[in-house]
Amino acid sequence: MNYVKVCTLEELPNNSQKVVSLGNIKIALFHFNEKVSAIGNACLHKAGPLGLGEVSSKYNGLYITCPWHGWEYNIETGSAPPGFLDQQALYEVRIENEFIFISEEPIVKANKEHPDNPLLEDLIKLKYQTSENSLNILGISTTNLSSNLPRFSTSEDALEKSLSYAKEKYGASTKMVKLRDLEFRNCEGYYSQHSHACTWPCSITEMDAEDGMTQVYESMILWADILIVSTPIRWGNASALYYKMAERLNCVQNQITINNKVLIKNKVASFIITGGQDNIQQVAGQMMYFFTDLGFTFPPFSFLGWSRGWTAEDMDKNVLQFKKSEYIKRTSKEIVDNSIEVLRQIKNVNNANIHSPKPKRNDSLSIDIENKDMNI
Ligand code: FES
Repeated sequence: MNYVKVCTLEELPNNSQKVVSLGNIKIALFHFNEKVSAIGNACLHKAGPLGLGEVSSKYNGLYITCPWHGWEYNIETGSAPPGFLDQQALYEVRIENEFIFISEEPIVKANKEHPDNPLLEDLIKLKYQTSENSLNILGISTTNLSSNLPRFSTSEDALEKSLSYAKEKYGASTKMVKLRDLEFRNCEGYYSQHSHACTWPCSITEMDAEDGMTQVYESMILWADILIVSTPIRWGNASALYYKMAERLNCVQNQITINNKVLIKNKVASFIITGGQDNIQQVAGQMMYFFTDLGFTFPPFSFLGWSRGWTAEDMDKNVLQFKKSEYIKRTSKEIVDNSIEVLRQIKNVNNANIHSPKPKRNDSLSIDIENKDMNI
């Protein structure tokens, strides 16, 4: 076995770690408890840079935690924590004349045992459930009402009206997702470490298929032809639940940036925005910006808006007035008519011809700056 000189002992004092190169391969080198050890730097999960993680004493030894999503490896053996079978590549270390050498080949090969989650197979393989003739209409209600105290929601009522109309008039398949009934985690911001740390399906979903966003991804990305999102206006913005969902959709948009892959194909979106007072236009603007960035198409007049003006503090009259409104009855149908009209037109559009003029990694102004310890 050949050994390669990688650095001096002085460059790796006790209680430290560093990333070194072995040809094209990056190695995470550790010096803890007066012992030097070396394992592959690319995490077996998504190739996160292990050498940039934190070493701590746990289970039966010293473990490095991957900075991207938290997988752990024993720094002396490369093995995963007890109960997991993953094995990171382990290299032999020799110290001669204050120089550190590592074996050219691993003495224990890397082996990934963590299978892809079978519950997520449709998402991983992008098994779309739409077809040329499908008419699947998904309503997502983002209002946050207490399930212990059922009460009237203007945004959800208008959404229900739209879905019933679509079913009755067009024979559409309809589905309602109420975000408040799903338990899902907040986006944990993996993207801010590295664009490749934000994965499809979302890293959180991948680690926990029971997370409620799995249902949103399946319904929105694979099943729906038309999406209607309803929100109340809260402090001039869409609801907190809407934003919580939007952040978790970062992984959909990010596929464009890192893989040039548009997941949303020939889908139409419209919106229902209701509030006691005002700010419909700002909420609509934000929603339209966000959903076009995912790849949705809008019909003309793509939202229903309801508010009663800045001075309408007599909230007790809001629902009464809403229920009487001819505008609501008419527009909850018209946004469906318009969405279906546009859907029929775009169904024949060859998606391959649609450009996604989003910034790519190569467009970055700092593309020439080397961040050499990151693997990707
Ligand atoms: S935990 Fe290492 S890349 Fe995900």
